[in-house]
Amino acid sequence: MRIGVIGTGYVGLVTAVCLAELDHHVIGTDVVREKIDLALAGRPHIYEPGLEELLKKNLKEGRLTFYHDLDKTIKDSDVLFVCVSTPQRPDGRADMTYVEGVSRRIAENLNTYKLIVEKSTVPVRTSAWIKRVINLYRRNAEPFDVASNPEFLREGSAVEDFLHPDRIIIGVESAKAERILRQIYARFADKILVTNIDTAELIKHASNSFLAMKISFINLISELCEKTEADVELVARGMGLDPRIGPQFLRAGLGYGGSCFPKDVRALIHIGEEMGVDFGLLKEVDKINTRRIEIFINKIKQALWILREKKIALLGLSFKPHTDDIRNAPSIAVIRELQKEGAFLRLYDPQAMNNMKEVFPEKEPELVYCQSPYQALEGANAGLIITEWPEFQAMDLTRIKDIMSNPILIDGRNIFDPDEVRKQGIEYYSMGRK
Ligand code: UGA
Repeated sequence: MRIGVIGTGYVGLVTAVCLAELDHHVIGTDVVREKIDLALAGRPHIYEPGLEELLKKNLKEGRLTFYHDLDKTIKDSDVLFVCVSTPQRPDGRADMTYVEGVSRRIAENLNTYKLIVEKSTVPVRTSAWIKRVINLYRRNAEPFDVASNPEFLREGSAVEDFLHPDRIIIGVESAKAERILRQIYARFADKILVTNIDTAELIKHASNSFLAMKISFINLISELCEKTEADVELVARGMGLDPRIGPQFLRAGLGYGGSCFPKDVRALIHIGEEMGVDFGLLKEVDKINTRRIEIFINKIKQALWILREKKIALLGLSFKPHTDDIRNAPSIAVIRELQKEGAFLRLYDPQAMNNMKEVFPEKEPELVYCQSPYQALEGANAGLIITEWPEFQAMDLTRIKDIMSNPILIDGRNIFDPDEVRKQGIEYYSMGRK
C-alpha cells in the first residue's frame, strides 16, 4: 500500500514522516516547490522537535519520498491523505478552495481504486462535497471511498502526539475504507474509534472549540480575580482537582492563538449559522479571547502611563513555546498596539524571529530584534512575557533588575512567582493575581 500525503504544511509533513515511521511507503507533495526541495534534503521547513531526525531516517531507509508533481502522487498512491490548508476567510468561514481543487485533481487522476482521507480540519459535510466533486469531474468509473481521519496533534509536540495518540478517529462509510485505515493504524488498534463521516468531522471541531472554551472560561474568571483578592492560578488548581474538570487548558494569560483555535471557533460559529444552530456560546469565547490583549496593554499603561518612545522588551513571539509558528500569535496583536502608541520595541524569541521579521521588518529604533532575552531587557523601561518558553522561566532576576532602566515585568503567562520577583526589587504585574 502506498500512501500519498497532499500538502506538506505542519500537519502534512508530520503525517508523511510519521506514517513512514509506522513502516508505510509514503509520498509527500506540495504546491510550494521549496518545501519539497527542503524535505528531500532532509530539512523540514518548520521547527518541530524530533521531526528532522525522523525525516532523515525515513528518507534514508527508503520508505519516504517527496514529489513536486501532484498528478503523479495521486496516480502512484492507493490512499491519499488530504492535508491542505483550510484558511479563514474574512467572514470567519473556512476557505475550502484548496480542498476543492485537490478533489478535482484526484478525480482527473483516478487510475485505480483510491481511499481519500481528509485530515485537514474541515466543516462537517466536507467529505460529502469531496465525493460529489470527484463524481462530477472523474473521467472513468474507477471506484473510490472518502473518509475522515482528523488530526489532533499539537504544535511543539506534534511527532510525539502522532506516535503516541490518545485516540484515532476514523469516519467511514464503507467496510473497505475501515479495513484500510485500521491497517494503517494497526499499531494503535486499541485507540481507534470508528464513526460515520459527519461524526468524525464534528469530533475535531467540537474538541478544539471545547478546549478554546476552557481557556476563555479561566480567562474570564481571571478578570474577576483581578477585581478581588482571588488568585486565578489557585482557582484553576482547585477546579482542576475535580477529575470531571481536569487541570489542563486552565492556564490564564494572553489567550489562545495559533492556526487552529481562533479559526476553528469561528468556523464552528458559521457552520452553526448555516445549519440553524445558535453558537452564541462560542461568540463569547472568541470575544473574551480578543479582550485579553486589551487587558494586557492596559497593564503596560498602568505601569508606564505614556508609551511613546518607551523601550519595551517583548520576550516570546511564537504563539506558544517549542514552535516557530507565529500564526495568530498574541505577540502580533501586542506589537501592533504598542506601535500605535509609538513605543520602541526590542524583540526576542528562541525560534520565531525569522518568521516575525517577515511581518515586522527591523527598523531602528522603533523595532529591534535581539540575540538574547537579556539584550532585549537591557536599558528597557518594561519587559513583557508573551510566550512561556522555559528559557524565560530560568532567567536570572538579579541580572534583570540590574540591566533594565526601570525594572518592571509584565507577565502575560504567569511564569514567575510574584513574591520571588518582587523580592528582587522588580515591579511585577501578571494575569489574574495580585
Ligand atoms: C490545538 C489542539 O490542542 C490540537 O489537539 C489540535 O490538533 C490542533 O489545535 C489542530 O487543530 O491542529 P495547537 O494549536 O498546536 O493545538 O496548540 P495548543 O497547545 O492547543 O494551544 C493553543 C493555544 O492555546 C496556544 O496559544 C496556547 O498558548 C493557548 N493556551 C493553551 C492557553 O492560553 N491556556 C491553556 O491553558 C492552554
